[in-house]
Amino acid sequence: MNRDEILAKTVTFVKEELAAAEGAHDWWHIYRVWKLAKHIAKDEHVDMLIVELAALLHDVADSKLHGGDEELGPMKVQDFLCTLPLDKGIVEHVEQIVSNISFRLSLKTSPKEKMSRSAELNVVQDADRLDAIGAIGIARTFNFGGHKGNALYDPALKPRVGMSFEEYKTDSAPTINHFYEKLLLLKDRMNTKTGKRLAEQRHKFMEHYLEQFYKEWEGEA
Ligand code: NI
Repeated sequence: MNRDEILAKTVTFVKEELAAAEGAHDWWHIYRVWKLAKHIAKDEHVDMLIVELAALLHDVADSKLHGGDEELGPMKVQDFLCTLPLDKGIVEHVEQIVSNISFRLSLKTSPKEKMSRSAELNVVQDADRLDAIGAIGIARTFNFGGHKGNALYDPALKPRVGMSFEEYKTDSAPTINHFYEKLLLLKDRMNTKTGKRLAEQRHKFMEHYLEQFYKEWEGEA
C-alpha cells in the first residue's frame, strides 16, 4: 500500500464514521481542515503524512460523536491505524495529535502535556481552528447552534469568557455568545506563521459581521 492508497483508505474510513454527523462537523469540515493543513504545512518543517493523517482523523476521536465518551474515539482511531502499513512511531504521533486537538480538551490540558507539542500538532490544530472562524466559522457556528436548538441571540444574556471544560461541554447559550466565548479568542491562540496571518483576516471578517448583526437587530441598517 503506497502513500496515496493509505490516504484514500483513510478518507473512506472518515467518510463512513462521519456519515451521520451534523453540518458543522461533517466530512466537509474534514476536507477543509485537510486542505488548510497542507497549505499551512508548506512553511513548516513537518512530516506531511503525519499532518494529513491527523487532519483526516482529528474529529473521529471527538467525544461529540460518541455521546460524550472521551475514550471511545481515540480507540477507534487506534484500531483503524493498526490496519495500515505504518511505522509504530507514525501511528503513535497521529494518535497523540488527534487526542490533543480540541478546544475543549485544551481547556484542561496540563502543563506537562503542553510540553509534548509537535510541529505537526501545531499545524493541524491551526487548520482546525481556522475552520472555526471567518465566513465558514460563522456558518458552522449557527448550524451547530441550530442543531442544539439554541437561540440566535438574546441581548439580556451576556457571554461568559473563561468557561471550564464541563461548562463548555453542556453550553446552551445563544449562538452569538459563542463568538465571544470561543471564536474571537482563537486568533491569539494560533501556532504557525501562516495560521496567524489567515486568522487575522478571518477575525476581521467576523468583527465586521457582528457590527452589522447588531445594527440589523435594532433595525438600524
Ligand atoms: Ni474539527
